[in-house]
Amino acid sequence: MTNTRMPAPGRETVADRLLRSTAARSYDPDLDIDWTAPLVPGKGFILERRCSLYGTTLWERLSPEQRLELGKHEGASVASTGIWLELMLMRILAKLAYRGDPVSAHVQYALTELAEECRHTIMFGRMIEQLGTPMYGPPPRIWALGNRLPAFAYGPSMWAAILIGEEIPDRFQREQAADESIQPLMRMVNRIHILEEARHISFARAELPRSVAETSRAGLAYHRAVTARFAFIVASNLINPLVYRSVGLDPRVARAAALANPHYKATLRFGGEKIVAFLQDAGMIGLPGTPLWRRSHLLPA
Ligand SMILES: [Fe+2]
Ligand SMILES: [Fe+2]
Repeated sequence: MTNTRMPAPGRETVADRLLRSTAARSYDPDLDIDWTAPLVPGKGFILERRCSLYGTTLWERLSPEQRLELGKHEGASVASTGIWLELMLMRILAKLAYRGDPVSAHVQYALTELAEECRHTIMFGRMIEQLGTPMYGPPPRIWALGNRLPAFAYGPSMWAAILIGEEIPDRFQREQAADESIQPLMRMVNRIHILEEARHISFARAELPRSVAETSRAGLAYHRAVTARFAFIVASNLINPLVYRSVGLDPRVARAAALANPHYKATLRFGGEKIVAFLQDAGMIGLPGTPLWRRSHLLPA
């Protein structure tokens, strides 16, 4: 299940490299983003084709202004789910540090990542404040579940969950950071996040195969089930249905239209493409989790 072509670099080697990369390049969103700059009229908040209703009859009925407005609320919704994920991740990283050796590069990098996630959470919070939308977040039931998860998270499903939370938003951020039709604020937030998340993703990607190798067959089935459940929850909660109210649509009707929308399903597949391939390679996608993975629309068609 692990990559046998080349020996995987050791835990301390990976953490050392990531610590050096952090020292060479990282951001302070407080200083590196011009928070006083106004939003640019007419520029988008997400790519139109990534809007959950893009291509539907409901979309056709929206004016260009309404499409921009919905994109703003969907962008804020994804960022608020990002905040939820980062709040959980910070607690997982604090748990790793508490149990580990603070003299090791591994724990020092976990703490470095925690500090970056802390700044990201504030950055996303300020961005949502700037957009003037509600702080949507997942529904209360899911928010409450997230409060309990870090205490129980361990092993392969913990690393897989971290990667699902980091790699899906990363796909969308990379796409829009490169697009000049998008608001400069969103693009700068994306650029900061992409650079720092690349290190976080390397950290978790190095840990997952080690963790899988230490897990029994029965244990792996458990971790596959937990991972599939987590992937389904993340994919289902990127867009809070309340966003549709911003353009006068009934959340239930619009949510149903989004879930049936082939463009939105393709968007979810695009979001899942890299992490799904990695998890499949690591043996983390399979029974008993496969049906939930299918329902999440993250698997290739
Ligand atoms: Fe982050
Ligand atoms: Fe991260």
